[in-house]
Amino acid sequence: MIGFFDSGIGGLTVLHEAIKLMPNESYIYFADSDNVPYSYKSREEIKGFVFKAVDFLIQKGAKAIVLACNTATNVAIEDLRKKYTLPIIAIQPAVKPAVLNNQENKRILVCATPITLVSERFENLVDTFDTNNLVDKMPLPGLVELAEGFIFDENRVENYLKEALKNYDLKDYSYFVLGCTHFTFFKENFKKLAPHIKLVDGNLGTVTHLKNTLNSLNLLATKNEFSLKFYESGREMKNEQKFRMYLDLFEN
Ligand code: DGL
Repeated sequence: MIGFFDSGIGGLTVLHEAIKLMPNESYIYFADSDNVPYSYKSREEIKGFVFKAVDFLIQKGAKAIVLACNTATNVAIEDLRKKYTLPIIAIQPAVKPAVLNNQENKRILVCATPITLVSERFENLVDTFDTNNLVDKMPLPGLVELAEGFIFDENRVENYLKEALKNYDLKDYSYFVLGCTHFTFFKENFKKLAPHIKLVDGNLGTVTHLKNTLNSLNLLATKNEFSLKFYESGREMKNEQKFRMYLDLFEN
């Protein structure tokens, strides 16, 4: 079984890609619903939540874990890898592909949680790839709250984005990096706001890395074992419909 973790429902955008790529695997999705959003918590608190979730997934028999939460990665991945030996695949903002494919050489706006954007790990990522100083940063914690509330009303989302981005001259930009897994639900809103700006998230890269890792360790399912279970902060969900509604958004 592969364990997926996010503070809330954002990681479902990554899980959806994983199921497409590896339909024979069994999955457990852990949303830390009691503590979402992580945006306003301290790094120490978040670290504690993430360790608890990872312990839980390991007890359930996970052969690998995906941190489908950029914030958790930036706060906890180094310490997790010191403690655990199983593969832990961690998403991070897709700064690298945005910089490498930026033929227009225009600016790149990384949208993420405030915690991700000020973390040392993220700073290092930008220092490594952004050699022409084209990366700007924009915290959009309001999108996490909209997604958690299943509020996909176009006007509300677009008003929020317009207000948040009002000081940016969007014609100077060629890429939005969606550096929080909750933001992938709003791709169409970003496109509508600025059709010329390309969008990139780390979802496909993360699940491709997961598949390659499992393959190299001979851990891929050899027959169809597909199953999907949801847990909220360690409790099995009685009403899965709440999460399936989000996955259904990808079918339209
Ligand atoms: N989905 C998370 C991320 O990718 C964080 C959302 C939150 O809890 O603030 O960063």
